[in-house]
Order: sequence, then structure tokens, then C-alpha cells
Amino acid sequence: MIKVAIVGGSGYVGNILLKILLNHKYVDVKIVTSTSQQGKKVCEVFPEIDSELVLSKFNYKDINKMDVVFLAVPHGKAKSIVPKLKCKIIDITSDHRLTEIYGLPEIFGNKIRGSKFIANPGCYATACILSTYPIQDLIKYTVFDCISGYSGGGRIAKYDYQENIIAYKLSKHYQIKELSNILNFNFSFTPHIVNTFSGLMCTAHIFLKNKIKLTEIKNQYKKYYKNSFTKIIENIPSTKNDVVNTPYCNIGGFELDKNNQLVIVSVIDNLYKGAATQAIENMNLMFKLDHKEGLKHFSVKLSK
Ligand SMILES: NC(=O)c1ccc[n+]([C@@H]2O[C@H](COP(=O)([O-])OP(=O)(O)OC[C@H]3O[C@@H](n4cnc5c(N)ncnc54)[C@H](OP(=O)(O)O)[C@@H]3O)[C@@H](O)[C@H]2O)c1
Repeated sequence: MIKVAIVGGSGYVGNILLKILLNHKYVDVKIVTSTSQQGKKVCEVFPEIDSELVLSKFNYKDINKMDVVFLAVPHGKAKSIVPKLKCKIIDITSDHRLTEIYGLPEIFGNKIRGSKFIANPGCYATACILSTYPIQDLIKYTVFDCISGYSGGGRIAKYDYQENIIAYKLSKHYQIKELSNILNFNFSFTPHIVNTFSGLMCTAHIFLKNKIKLTEIKNQYKKYYKNSFTKIIENIPSTKNDVVNTPYCNIGGFELDKNNQLVIVSVIDNLYKGAATQAIENMNLMFKLDHKEGLKHFSVKLSK
């Protein structure tokens, strides 16, 4: 059994990690840390999770007895924790995304397999990269227009999202750096928040270098994402009908306009494929398991 610690277990991402990992047949969740909920049982803090495990204070001695630790703490907090860790690490914060193996299994599965330290991608970056990577050599420029549910910002709300639509960090969002690190074309990226709990949509407006048939484009995507949690669909996906509460990324739309501009829509659940389930895919690969282990009970939803 893989001995697991979750640091930041009382947060949104920690909650989903716990729910799924407690039912993973090769995992034994031994430690869940929290400052605010320290000493309480998991089933008290999360009544929907049937576990007597007690949320504890972070300490290196116990965590270093584990096989792997998930860091689901706020940005900037993982940097100071990592140097003294001796077990495998899956960092869900943005702290190591430019320096460590980038945990996007569809693209870097071979590098992730057997590795010791993975930086889990950002939620916006996951949707943007998956929507363009298979054809990136054909792309001149892309405008990524992204919308997220408010859980993307964690438990403590930073914006007034009630009855509201918010654009923020118009051209300077921190995930632009990780996008630039992976993608080989120029792009613009703007995030928005809407008044829905979870779900993230990326509409990619792609300016192509040359004319190419839509069927060829779709076939490239289908071939690239074979056997993964990314599905190419015929319709325009929506968050609720396609991916909320699942580990899937659904990509559809695929319309070419008269200016040879391709419009593709990708959707994920920011807390699942954008964080927790992608981290579990990474853990599976790090321990040389099938990347879908513990996630096979989720079925793909295909919007009609
Ligand atoms: N939400 C998303 O959609 C999403 C997507 C991708 C990546 N991420 C990343 O995943 C991480 C967790 O996100 P989240 O949405 O779960 O955030 P969250 O709901 O705010 O939870 C953060 C957790 O960190 C703990 N924490 C707070 N300050 C800490 C500190 N100084 N040291 C150690 N632990 C601390 C909190 O618990 P206590 O206060 O009880 O200690 C809480 O359990 C963040 O880095 C976030 O950027 C989130």
C-alpha cells in the first residue's frame, strides 16, 4: 500500500483528494493536516466523508515516514516545506511549476512515471494547454478566454462573486508563465470568475498558420488523447453537462470561420482535472500504476 499524507486537508482540493484516496485500493491515507481544524475527525469536518482519521498538525517526522505527500496549501507555502521532505512530492501549488516535472499526464506521462517530484499544473493552464497542444506547430497566435467557478480561489473568497461576473488579471495572471513554458506559440490569456461553485471553460480563438481541414484537426486531437481523461466531442461542451465532479477534460466546438480562425472549447472541473484528480493521476504514474487507478468509477458525460 502507498502511505499518503495530505497537507492542507481542510481545503477544497484537500477534501476531494481525501474523498477519492480513501477509496483507492493501493492507498492508505495516514496523515491529513490542518491548522484550523486540528484535532477534529475528518467525518466532523466533512460529514459526507465516512472516516475516523483525525486532522493533525504538520510535522516532518511523521510525514517523512510516508511514501508520498500531496501539498494542497496556498501558493508560496510549498516552497518552504519542500526542502526538508524525504518522500515523493506532488505539489499542487504554483511554487514549482517552472522548475520541476510538469504533471500533465496526457503530455508528460513518460517523464512522470516513476519520478519523485511532480508540480501539478494550474487549472486554467490545464484547460488551455489541452485545448491547443496537439496542433501547436500549426498555430500562429491564440487568444485564451477563460471562465472559472469561484472555488478556483480556495475557501476564502477574494472577490464578490454573488450575482456577478468578474474579469481579473487581464494580461498578468501568474499562470501565463507556465503556459509560456509549455506552449511554443504566442498567446493572450484573460481569466473570469462567475457565480457557480466549480467548473472551468477555456474558449481558444486559434489563428492558424495555414489552411487545414477540420476533420484533420479533430483526428489529430483524437489520436493524441487516446486512452486519456481528455475526450474530443462533437458538440460544444458545457461544464455541468460534461465534466463537473469528474476527472475529465472535454474538448469540442471545432469551428473554422472565414478568416481561418479556429474556435475550440475545453471544459474541466477546476477542483478535479484542474487539481485533485490530476494529482492522483500523477501519483499513480509515480508509483507505476495505471494512471486511471482509483478514478475508473467516474464515467465520462458527453453533452448532447
Ligand atoms: N481551487 C482550485 O480550483 C485549485 C486548482 C488548482 C490548484 N489549486 C491550488 O491548490 C492549493 C489548494 O487550493 P484550495 O482551493 O484547496 O485552497 P483552500 O481551500 O484555501 O485550502 C488551503 C488549505 O491550506 C491550509 N493552509 C492555509 N495556510 C497554510 C499555511 N500557511 N501552511 C500550511 N497549510 C495552510 C488550509 O488549512 P488550515 O487553515 O486548516 O491549515 C487549507 O486546508 C492552492 O495552492 C491552489 O492554488 C487550486
